[in-house]
Amino acid sequence: MKKIIIAIDGFSSCGKSTMAKDLAKSVGYAYVDTGAMYRSVTLYCLRNNWINDGVVDEEKLKEAIPSIKIDFRYNAEKQINETYLNDENVESEIRSLKVSNSVSIVSSIGFVRRAMVAQQQAYSVDRGVVMDGRDIGTVVFPDAELKIFLTASPEIRAQRRYDELKTKGENVSFDEVLENVKQRDYLDQNREESPLRKADDAIELDNSYMTIQEQKEWLLQRFEERTK
Ligand code: DC
Repeated sequence: MKKIIIAIDGFSSCGKSTMAKDLAKSVGYAYVDTGAMYRSVTLYCLRNNWINDGVVDEEKLKEAIPSIKIDFRYNAEKQINETYLNDENVESEIRSLKVSNSVSIVSSIGFVRRAMVAQQQAYSVDRGVVMDGRDIGTVVFPDAELKIFLTASPEIRAQRRYDELKTKGENVSFDEVLENVKQRDYLDQNREESPLRKADDAIELDNSYMTIQEQKEWLLQRFEERTK
């Protein structure tokens, strides 16, 4: 069967990665979480103290970017792919609120985006990949055979994120998480470089009131339609 590229874009905490991972597993495709790549670059900046008062030291970052290596490795015990930054497992650390609060500014920098997009395109020379992010259907793979644009209300997304952070033991309030979700929506949609927008040929899905199983079945049906 012909292999295709599936692009899943949408707002933060919409459940893009859950849907993308499930589909990749069901159909035997690779899965690439592009948000994890921008989060890793952000973590690298924070560790070097290159973000101060919302401003990134772009000169230092530009010099360092060729030496920032990000890859994904399979953890057989947990049965998930984990993100590695220069050979260190950073899967948990990149999901912290500290990283979430700074990732929008790092991901709005043009040279950061160009470096990440080049890596993302290289992951899929043989197609057969499910990739989630903000610009996959518009910039990374404008020719993707299946494009999905996910939405859900900010309150529902904040609740999902809050539950996730609480499970991990992070000390956060719901209002703080909601504020971060809304702020990232604004920044993602209004930045100059590759702003978040629905590709003209993407299928929109509001999953506010859908269960994970319902979303999984819906996506599998779209995949089967495209690969028939
Ligand atoms: O999907 P996520 O919340 O893990 O993404 C983290 C941030 O990275 C998000 O605020 C926007 C940015 N991002 C992006 O600009 N382009 C992508 N393809 C993926 C994520």
